[in-house]
Amino acid sequence: IDRYCVFGHPVTHSKSPAIHAAFAEQTGEAIEYTAIEAPLEDFAGAWRRFVAEGGRGANVTVPFKEEAFRLCDTLSLRARRAGAVNTLILGGNGLSNELKIYGDTTDGVGLVRDLKRHGVTLAGARLLVLGAGGAVRGVLEPLLAEEPASLLVANRTAAKAEALAADFRELGEIAGGGFDAVVGQFDAVINGTSASLAGDLPPLPEGLFAPEATAYDMMYGAEPTVFLRWAVEHGAQPVDGLGMLVEQAAESFFQWRGKCPDTGPVLKALRHSL
Ligand code: ATR
Repeated sequence: IDRYCVFGHPVTHSKSPAIHAAFAEQTGEAIEYTAIEAPLEDFAGAWRRFVAEGGRGANVTVPFKEEAFRLCDTLSLRARRAGAVNTLILGGNGLSNELKIYGDTTDGVGLVRDLKRHGVTLAGARLLVLGAGGAVRGVLEPLLAEEPASLLVANRTAAKAEALAADFRELGEIAGGGFDAVVGQFDAVINGTSASLAGDLPPLPEGLFAPEATAYDMMYGAEPTVFLRWAVEHGAQPVDGLGMLVEQAAESFFQWRGKCPDTGPVLKALRHSL
């Protein structure tokens, strides 16, 4: 049986094993998928042990995505741009028996697919992305590939948003700044800060949502985040990040097994379990 896992620290609450078990059942793939808490100081060792025990690939979550990136022999273009890897794939190149580590990041496609599933048209849209950490870096390329009219990255620390925007400048209409740079209206506002975790709301101007705008929080929970509650009060359609979680998992599954799971029923079951 081919083994896969998610590495994290902590990782006990990860929903990935349940998601991939559902995908495996649906597609008839005989795989085992577990959650492994890697030691903070030895992610590479945990990965090597897993491979020695028959591991074929893994998902990687907080705080190991950058370390996983450094471990790879080959990287997808989108992973290179993200500077992080959430999917490790073990494979040969057909020329030697040595197995190579291929790294990809599926978070961005996961977000884009979930936005589309919610009827959001990204082409020509005015997008606002809040935050400038690793989570945001990982989704900028796929968002820009949809050719929005503009993408503004706003962050508490303005310099980080400016630097991030500069890194992606050749891919589209992107600018960065502090929250005070948020002027005008947006068709979709994506919260990629970790402020929701602390129950904080980034300081945002009242009129930022265009009519029918979508407010997306990359976080999810049994209850809507502060950001989503605020967005509803200001007329936006709220969407949390549970769908992104399932979609990024589906893309990882596809990378490993070559089969596209049907995410709808898996998301529905997961929603009920929250
Ligand atoms: P992640 O991997 O989740 O992106 P990160 O790289 O630590 O984590 O980035 C966290 C992001 O959330 C940053 O953009 C951070 O803003 P700063 O760059 O100014 O630190 C943002 N963030 C965290 N707590 C926040 C809060 N209470 N209000 C607003 N932004 C916050």
